[in-house]
Amino acid sequence: VHKSSIYLPRELKSELTALAARTGRSEADLIRTAIERLIVAEPAPAPSGPVIVHHPRPALVGVGVGPGDPGLVTARARAVLLAADRVVVMSTDPRSVGRAEMVVRAVAATAHVQRVPFAIAADDAGRHRSLADLADAVMAPTDAGELVAVAVIGDPAQWTIFPELAAEVAAARPSLPITAEPGITSYQAAAAAAATTLGRAGAAVVVVDDAAGLAEHLAGDDDAVVLYKSSTDGATVKAIAHRHHRAAVVAELSGLPGQRLTGLDEVDDGPISYLATVVFPPAVVR
Ligand SMILES: C[S@@+](CC[C@H](N)C(=O)[O-])C[C@H]1O[C@@H](n2cnc3c(N)ncnc32)[C@H](O)[C@@H]1O
Repeated sequence: VHKSSIYLPRELKSELTALAARTGRSEADLIRTAIERLIVAEPAPAPSGPVIVHHPRPALVGVGVGPGDPGLVTARARAVLLAADRVVVMSTDPRSVGRAEMVVRAVAATAHVQRVPFAIAADDAGRHRSLADLADAVMAPTDAGELVAVAVIGDPAQWTIFPELAAEVAAARPSLPITAEPGITSYQAAAAAAATTLGRAGAAVVVVDDAAGLAEHLAGDDDAVVLYKSSTDGATVKAIAHRHHRAAVVAELSGLPGQRLTGLDEVDDGPISYLATVVFPPAVVR
């Protein structure tokens, strides 16, 4: 009798004996290894294969597709674009392919894309009309049972129409599931490209979209400040930065043809393009 295998059924005992003979390890050693594997938790296997995201039908999902580089679209966002019955993209001109649509085409070529005009530059009344039209364009297919994705650049929760659209649709269709898939923002992509700091302990990351907000927030030396929609000119941004002794990087057309990453001081005095993000890392080095 092998003391080490006394509790094993006969068949398992003979397999253990054969394994010991094949490997040159003692039966006691093999039993200890087997018990260790049971008791010491194995690390969970790394996820492999396609990402599957379950959204009910009908539903509305806002999908962030990042700043432009298809490589910055998350696996979840891509899975939703492919699973949706329709991917709505907004466009100032219904005849032109907008940026969100370009990214959707690059990562989900089979998606059924529907372009919906949106008057971004309109006054409040015009904007609200556009929002109501967009809500109608979303609710017609969800009423018919579809999973509708609305693709937006960056993240759906930041400087997009999606939260307003979600509120409008929720008011009209209270039982419709509405959710969003997050996206990478241009300031995350810019900070990564420049290998610089955004957030850190005890400090804030502030995102503003005009020069007045920039001047207000640059005073907090410890905080990172991001300027979006830099429709202001380079000279104004540089003057504010110099006043506060702050350096910045400017990412223009991130992930798109002609992209450029430069120091703020190298930027022309003239208008900074709309598709630029200025990142001021925290000034205080601890
Ligand atoms: C309407 S906001 C969209 C923000 C987007 N939802 C996000 O989460 O980043 C547009 C602003 O985002 C920034 N932006 C978006 N895409 C960019 C890109 N590819 N390169 C540089 N800046 C970009 C610019 O500051 C632009 O004026």
